Amino acid sequence: MKGLILAGGAGTRLRPLTYTGAKQLVPVANRPVLFYVVDNLVDAGITDIGVIISPETGGEIRSTLGDGSRFGAQFTFIPQDKPAGLAHAVATAEPFLRGSDFVMYLGDNLIGTPIREPVEAFRSSDEFAASVMLKEVTNPSSFGVAEVDAAGKVTRLVEKPKEPKSNLALVGIYLFRPSIFDAIAQIKPSPRGELEITDAISKVIELGGKVNFSRVTSWWLDTGKKDDLLLANDTVLDDWLKPAIDGDVDQASRISGRVRVAKGARIERSTIRGPVVIGEGAVVSHSRIGPFTAIGDRVSIVRSTVEHSVIMQDSAITDIARLEDSLIGKRVAVKPGASRHGALSLMVGDDCVIELSGD
Ligand code: TTP
Repeated sequence: MKGLILAGGAGTRLRPLTYTGAKQLVPVANRPVLFYVVDNLVDAGITDIGVIISPETGGEIRSTLGDGSRFGAQFTFIPQDKPAGLAHAVATAEPFLRGSDFVMYLGDNLIGTPIREPVEAFRSSDEFAASVMLKEVTNPSSFGVAEVDAAGKVTRLVEKPKEPKSNLALVGIYLFRPSIFDAIAQIKPSPRGELEITDAISKVIELGGKVNFSRVTSWWLDTGKKDDLLLANDTVLDDWLKPAIDGDVDQASRISGRVRVAKGARIERSTIRGPVVIGEGAVVSHSRIGPFTAIGDRVSIVRSTVEHSVIMQDSAITDIARLEDSLIGKRVAVKPGASRHGALSLMVGDDCVIELSGD
């Protein structure tokens, strides 16, 4: 069985971060989301993996993933010239997938459970033409939704239904056989101009194929927006962080809870309250960090307090009394200005959100 990771697309919802980087590489607990996707496939025994990439971010995805050896996998990169839909991405990968059953996995999705069991079940019986993973949600109109019957079969799939008949959302992990290509060949672009995977699976059902599903009972996080990303960070830090102090922590600092300090990081006269992860080469001096905070590689935090935030690599936070619920991109400087009359002096890129204290 092969794997197909979708790591193309536009990533409009995570702007401005996605102006300069792929959304699948946004870090959660200091690791790109995409790495958790690869881990989950490899854990299910899937090591021959195709990766859909876009012209804009393909180079960055390739160089970050490498050839796959560090994951025990082998990657084949498959360019998709435009983000024309999930089913279009699958059709683009046909030469790589031809003849093989496969798992399709959206590259920006995080779930809290292994996919091993549904993959094993799909492998060991050919009763089902496709299988989807579903999660109960409270706002089904925002997702692709599956209607199911009492026998455990999917009867219908609808993309973002206005009046949903089911609260089971598609979590972005699908198991297919080569029959999916016949179905894709028979569908037309949707009103939003994309070849939809929901239409392709509906076509599989129409052509007589049976589709089953498995339920995700743990958490599922779509890292589409700022709050989703902060929540993903909280959840992964809470569930998966393995504490380790590989950097230097001086005698005057205090560390409590689950904290990982990477090699080359330096903590001086500071308090770190876990769960917190601090990246390679970061410097934290006279500061308080945490809980629920990820400090990226080579970040510097000086005389500041940072709580419930993600600070990406090479940024600097200096003399900030309290920073919380924040998502700070790469190479950003946050510091007080020289002005004596309380004026703000900002240099901010497109689509940023600056929330200033109303005190
Ligand atoms: P989406 O979140 O549906 O689309 P998007 O990346 O364009 O994001 P946004 O809504 O923020 O603009 O995509 C789900 C995943 O599939 C994501 O990792 C990107 C990938 N993808 C492709 O690889 N090719 C495609 O044609 C599309 C539509 C998405």
